[in-house]
Amino acid sequence: RLKGLLQGRRVVVTSGPTHEPIDPVRYLANRSSGRQGHAIAAAAARAGAAVTLVSGPVAIPDPAGVRTIHVETARQMLDAVEGALPADIAICAAAVADWRPVAEGEQKLKKQPGAGAPALDLVENPDILATISKLAKHRPGLVVGFAAETENLIEHARAKLQRKGCDLIVANDVSPSGGVMGGARNTVHLVTASGVESWEETTKEEVARRLVAHVAGLLGEPGA
Ligand code: C5P
Repeated sequence: RLKGLLQGRRVVVTSGPTHEPIDPVRYLANRSSGRQGHAIAAAAARAGAAVTLVSGPVAIPDPAGVRTIHVETARQMLDAVEGALPADIAICAAAVADWRPVAEGEQKLKKQPGAGAPALDLVENPDILATISKLAKHRPGLVVGFAAETENLIEHARAKLQRKGCDLIVANDVSPSGGVMGGARNTVHLVTASGVESWEETTKEEVARRLVAHVAGLLGEPGA
């Protein structure tokens, strides 16, 4: 069903968390298995696209037929994404850490008896989705973001679409009771400037297939 849908297209996908070092042995991270992003990269490859997957640290294998670049931090992820452009489609499924420690300690922080806990000074990380959505040169024709929310899903997704400047937001409910985090299934809503399309709960693989078919449809015929 996917065969040939993205023939001749270049696709960049981000997936997984980022790790932001505190010192040589500790980091800040988001919770993300990479399953949804990796499944999208694999589906895009099966649809005939030349796919670059930029992945943070995950415990799952590189998808078949995909050029996978492994990164650790948000800044490395942004560099790798920009290095993979130009592309027809960018799909940002990574759970990027919003902040990173100001300065990475060269040595392991030591517990100081009686001194209490150290303070962590944080700075904002670059927003990869917003950055590539606003590129003057080499903005991909179609930029897709994800919105993992625990409440007011559609409202937050609409705001995110506007703020980030992307073309489509895939909104999913990640309330702890739903089992989406690290799980095999997902319930998503496709939010664009023109409306909302809700899909029934299904596997992350099926969400990936349907999303790839959907974006191929939005892009139209190769060369169009
Ligand atoms: O703002 P929020 O993190 O909820 O937005 C989620 C979307 O933005 C996802 O598509 C995620 O991959 C992307 N994002 C990003 N870089 C960041 C933060 C989020 O690409 N620093």
